[in-house]
Amino acid sequence: MSCYLITGGTPLRGTVRVRGAKNSALKLMAASLLAEGTYRLREVPQIADIETMRLVLRRLGCDARFEDGTMAIEVPAAVGGEAPYELVRQMRASIVVLGPLLARRGRARVAMPGGCNIGSRKIDLHLKGLERMGATIGFDHGYLEASGGLHGAEIVLDWPSHGATENICMAATLAKGTTVIENAARDPEIQDLSAMLSDMGARISGAGTPTIVVEGTDALRAVEHTVLPDRLEAGTYLIAAAATGGDVTVEGARGGHLEIALSKLADSGAEVDAGPASVRLRMPGTPRPVDFVTLPYPGFPTDLQPQMMVLCAIASGTSIATENVFENRFMFVDELVRMGADIRTEGHHAVIRGRPRLEAAPVRAPDIRAGAALAIAGLVADGETELSGVDHIERGYESFDDRLRALGGRIERLDG
Ligand code: EPZ
Repeated sequence: MSCYLITGGTPLRGTVRVRGAKNSALKLMAASLLAEGTYRLREVPQIADIETMRLVLRRLGCDARFEDGTMAIEVPAAVGGEAPYELVRQMRASIVVLGPLLARRGRARVAMPGGCNIGSRKIDLHLKGLERMGATIGFDHGYLEASGGLHGAEIVLDWPSHGATENICMAATLAKGTTVIENAARDPEIQDLSAMLSDMGARISGAGTPTIVVEGTDALRAVEHTVLPDRLEAGTYLIAAAATGGDVTVEGARGGHLEIALSKLADSGAEVDAGPASVRLRMPGTPRPVDFVTLPYPGFPTDLQPQMMVLCAIASGTSIATENVFENRFMFVDELVRMGADIRTEGHHAVIRGRPRLEAAPVRAPDIRAGAALAIAGLVADGETELSGVDHIERGYESFDDRLRALGGRIERLDG
């Protein structure tokens, strides 16, 4: 098991460039299943979750590989129909192959993704949406079996689920007739998916708004596409800069995709200079407390909640954080408390009483974002923190330790 050894106390300074967004690249790779041909996806991050999706595509008969930093995908005329448990269990986002496979082949068998460390992660909205479009979905020994020709439908999501919006959009591109998704997720990654689908020949409008309209078409074509920059990776480095009292410029970050997070960082005392292609953050003194509430985009991202909690843990007063998206996303708090944070959780609220300092302790990353947060805590704490479970962090962040080191962070990766 690998771990990071992190010595706190050095402010992060310098420039870091973000990669393409994991949560977009994974869906763009799935979207390639919709049409035969050669795809080239630029800026795909080289991280474990992308490797899992690459293996899913290979299992489905595609050839997917990195060539000079670009993901090249060859999709054959006939794709396979089964996404196996050993891959889906490693990454539940594999469920997004269901819509494209069903649309392209009229049949798909995908392992049921289980829960994970941040919640039970239901997929009922994906399935209800596809059923509204004419799919018949059954369960067989841990697998979802879906079949049926798809037609357009009006689908109102109970909650603006990111993944369900994407799965339904992709399925609708090849369905007969028009699909309208109401209460759709509005995340930038959905706009990126919509842009690639449009280039492929899909007729899709409204991505980025709560109503997406997709008129089905008979066939799509392979394309080249550049993945949009990762706003969550950018947000993580910016919060790390704030927590360590540093001065970091994140190149590639789009300020407009991080509006609420940046305004909360400004409330905490950071000087933020945000543009369309980079964001600079300087933290001149002790952070002030900030209250924040996670909500679907454009609300404060749940994927930056753990990192923000670390900033609140060293603030000059008491902050309140409310998590509305995932029920178990405070699981990492116990680890932060072991580092001296004063945090009390009650249901989906957390009261964080800021303290002047955190102290190093052996801690374990339970998931991608909480892992990044604990690394930030290590960069702030007195002494040497041993952070295990770094494979979780590396599912989502390319060269995380190298990048922090390049910013002056004292972090070392130990293999074994
Ligand atoms: C995506 O997950 C991201 N993952 C998550 O990032 C992110 O936290 C999340 O969106 C919210 O922004 C990927 O894109 C791969 P949801 P997704 O469907 O699509 C409930 C990371 O660290 N729900 O919007 O799974 C669900 O239980 C990850 O990069 C249903 O009830 O998120 C959750 O409480 C973690 N039924 C809420 O909605 C459904 O059918 C949000 O889920 C679907 C979801």
